[in-house]
Amino acid sequence: MTDKTQTIHSEWSSRFAFILAATGSAVGLGNIWKFPYITGENGGGAFVLVYLLCVAGLGIPIMIAEIMMGRRGRQSPINTMQTLAQQADADSRWHYLGWMGMIAGFLILGYYSVIAGWSMAYIFKAFFGGFFSSDATEIKALFDDLMNSPIQQIFWHSVFMVITMQVVSRGVRGGLEKAVNFFMPALFFLLLILVGYAMSSGSYQQGLDFLFTPDFSKINANAVLTAMGHAFFTLSLGMGAIMVYGSYLPGHVSIAKTTFFIAGADTIVALLAGIAIFPLVFANNLQVDSGPGLIFQTLPLAFGHMGGGWLFGVLFFLLLFVAALTSSISLIEPTVAWLVENKDMDRPQACIWSGVACWLLGVAVVFSFNIWSGHTFFGKNLFELLDYLTANLMLPLGGLAIAVFSGWIMKTSDSAQELALPEQGYQIWQFLIKFVAPPAVFLVFLHVIGVFL
Ligand code: PFF
Repeated sequence: MTDKTQTIHSEWSSRFAFILAATGSAVGLGNIWKFPYITGENGGGAFVLVYLLCVAGLGIPIMIAEIMMGRRGRQSPINTMQTLAQQADADSRWHYLGWMGMIAGFLILGYYSVIAGWSMAYIFKAFFGGFFSSDATEIKALFDDLMNSPIQQIFWHSVFMVITMQVVSRGVRGGLEKAVNFFMPALFFLLLILVGYAMSSGSYQQGLDFLFTPDFSKINANAVLTAMGHAFFTLSLGMGAIMVYGSYLPGHVSIAKTTFFIAGADTIVALLAGIAIFPLVFANNLQVDSGPGLIFQTLPLAFGHMGGGWLFGVLFFLLLFVAALTSSISLIEPTVAWLVENKDMDRPQACIWSGVACWLLGVAVVFSFNIWSGHTFFGKNLFELLDYLTANLMLPLGGLAIAVFSGWIMKTSDSAQELALPEQGYQIWQFLIKFVAPPAVFLVFLHVIGVFL
């Protein structure tokens, strides 16, 4: 490890710190904002089942591989890939994997920050009583008002970017660890309260049926791609974020156990969000496929009507903001690390450059929700295009490369030593990473290409 990389990432020093950082990266807008709305858009149960299968069959083995590669390489993803390729006598072009990840993280943050800005706007809307005794039409009008206002959205997106870059430039010490430590249980608790409210909504069973009764006639190749892409997105896989964090994991820690914890917590949060939201959607005759605004049009209805709703509303959007922040940090970290390592910048300088570039991308994303909403490319506006390109294509492609590298290129003795699994556990992992993950990702890609042709 070079001195520079040490100063960049020395923050995660114990197993617990790593778990907090990685869980903070995984649990974010993907679980609470994205999972419910893409589930709504893709017909419910069958989509959820494919997503869960992808988490179990692809996400978990690939997360184990990504953490393992990070810990073996002990540098930023681009340099880690270079070192590991050398160790395995493989082509040095494997380091392009690090490049793709860096670009993906940058592109994701471009829109992630805008949505995080919506959550911040909603902290204040909740605080000033904006949800009180409002009905579904008023709550929708509140959201439309935000959508139609580039100024409001740019303001909140800017505030979020400044906070993110401030945290990243200082290095992710103490404060953030404490924040994750506190916010995870708090978020979990609030989601349980919302599920409790959903139970009393009168449409609880309908919501559960929608989420958990698969109807395969409702999904197509693109839905399967979206479910697979989301498994990567929600677990922060395929772009080196988890690899960077893994590179600072102490050698004796069990990678597999840690992975099960992170993936388990991430999945539970997403499912709870779905269970809280869909009964409200049905009880209020809302559209399941209303898109990215779904949680902003449903949860305020619960907060507006339940006892203590004012406090819970403020807290919920505050926690969503913290969840987004801990994910954003990991999205931009590879870019900042690369600028520091290769462009001779110090950390604050690297943050300013990458922050400004990301901010500009975010401004364009804001316009795609209003003044540029008519401008589409392949039928998608800029937000949808960035989301599709990163979550559905770049992350699965990165995951595929990680699976191929760790399963087929790396020496078995190296991966076995690093993972230190019981014989049978190692064999299961090898089987999944060699024979399940690569063909599965490849087949989904092929199928989607077939649909387009
Ligand atoms: N996993 C985050 C979420 O679910 O919100 C998003 C994310 C963070 C994706 C970091 C990729 C990443 F590297």
